[in-house]
Amino acid sequence: MATSRGQFNTRIGFILAAAGSAVGLGNIWKFPFEVGQGGGAAFVVLYLTFCFMLCFPVMVSEIAIGRKTQLNPVGAFKKLGHGNWSIIGLLGIIAGVLILSFYNVVAGWAFGYFVEIVQGNFGIGEQFPEYIQQIFKVGAYGIIFMTVTAFIVSKGIAGGIEKASKILMPTLFIMIIGLIAYSLTLDGAMEGIKFYLVPDFSEINGEVVYSALGQAFFSLSLGMGALITYGSYVSKQQNIVRSAALITLTDVSIAFLAGLMIFPFVAYLSNGSMEGVAGGPGLIFMTLPGVFESLGPTLGVVIGSVFFLLLSFAALTSTVSLLEVPVAYLVDEKKIKRPYAVWGMALFIFVIGIPSLLGNGYVESLTSFMEIHKEGEWQTKGFMDFVELIASDTFLPIGGALISIFVAYVWKTNNLNEEIAIGRENAIPLVTKYINFAVSFICPVILGAIAITTILDRFFGVQIF
Ligand code: PHE
Repeated sequence: MATSRGQFNTRIGFILAAAGSAVGLGNIWKFPFEVGQGGGAAFVVLYLTFCFMLCFPVMVSEIAIGRKTQLNPVGAFKKLGHGNWSIIGLLGIIAGVLILSFYNVVAGWAFGYFVEIVQGNFGIGEQFPEYIQQIFKVGAYGIIFMTVTAFIVSKGIAGGIEKASKILMPTLFIMIIGLIAYSLTLDGAMEGIKFYLVPDFSEINGEVVYSALGQAFFSLSLGMGALITYGSYVSKQQNIVRSAALITLTDVSIAFLAGLMIFPFVAYLSNGSMEGVAGGPGLIFMTLPGVFESLGPTLGVVIGSVFFLLLSFAALTSTVSLLEVPVAYLVDEKKIKRPYAVWGMALFIFVIGIPSLLGNGYVESLTSFMEIHKEGEWQTKGFMDFVELIASDTFLPIGGALISIFVAYVWKTNNLNEEIAIGRENAIPLVTKYINFAVSFICPVILGAIAITTILDRFFGVQIF
């Protein structure tokens, strides 16, 4: 059965694919502006702590569940627990579908920016609010992005996802190193680095802790079964704990490098004042084109287009994993043939992403879709923020809490330990003990609390911290 579902051919293939899922817009687009808003290095310290202490045990659990059952998330929970537990898998699949619906829109912007910058259109940064309202243009880029994603997924695990990751991930790494090497030579680079790396702990408050945790979780693609799905294509020779450690390390390293690349650019543009970092989500789409322009027409085109191509590649390995989750469900549970499952799902997700596409100024009712309570005040937000709130801010931590509870109290940690012992040489017993302790106590409590406080604060304006 395992062979008919497909499998990763090599260890490194799995690690690159899973790291590819993790490394995405979250690392390169979101992480730097969250660092900017969260007091620089103090945020980075929190983020790293959460990744290793809280997220790593959940990642080990997800991969173990996948490899043990060789099934999609719904099938996996059904097999290991009772039928009712498959609701965790279903929640994950819904989260994945919703995340991909808006993620693809942003990925389309990134790709669109690549096309604009290649043509030397640096003014695109200032025109960002108008640009995202040109829905036929950005919609077309969204279609292109979804089509490429579906094409890769339709080729299967080894021939599609593994192959693409083996090309895209090393390329991404080389591009990022090249851009850092360049950005560090710019005037004022050190101001940017200082902002990034010297912690200011006075900036830490409840909201910052909370967004660092959400960021860690989203960035590692946890809580929705992406790693259960990828884990189901992993062979028994693979060391799950070591792979999870490598995936986490790659993800945080790329996020860290993204900061090293971006802050010197921002410092250069603002003559060291770091004004641009206040720009929030606009940091990359609004600030950076101005930086590239100031490098002169030729160099600006080269550096700028490499940057947006890098962003598109990072997004692509993530959209692939987001699409694979519902596809695996349709293939395993509904016995639909892979190509039909892939193209049907891709079309469906693109369609439900249309309101996110329109809600950036084009359709007023979708642009001012609802009031969300954030940073102590009610803010009018668009449809895209609403979907993000439901799927990534609420469903992922709930999913993470439920997965931990499931592993600790339904499947039981001794079964987890048995699975992770397979293929694991030179195991460090303390690591296993910590994973068991974390999934039994720390993860359910903290992730559960995060999910509850999100709902109370964002929807009802009840602020716990
Ligand atoms: N981890 C991806 C990123 O950082 C997003 C993602 C979330 C992908 C959940 C898959 C599942 O951009």
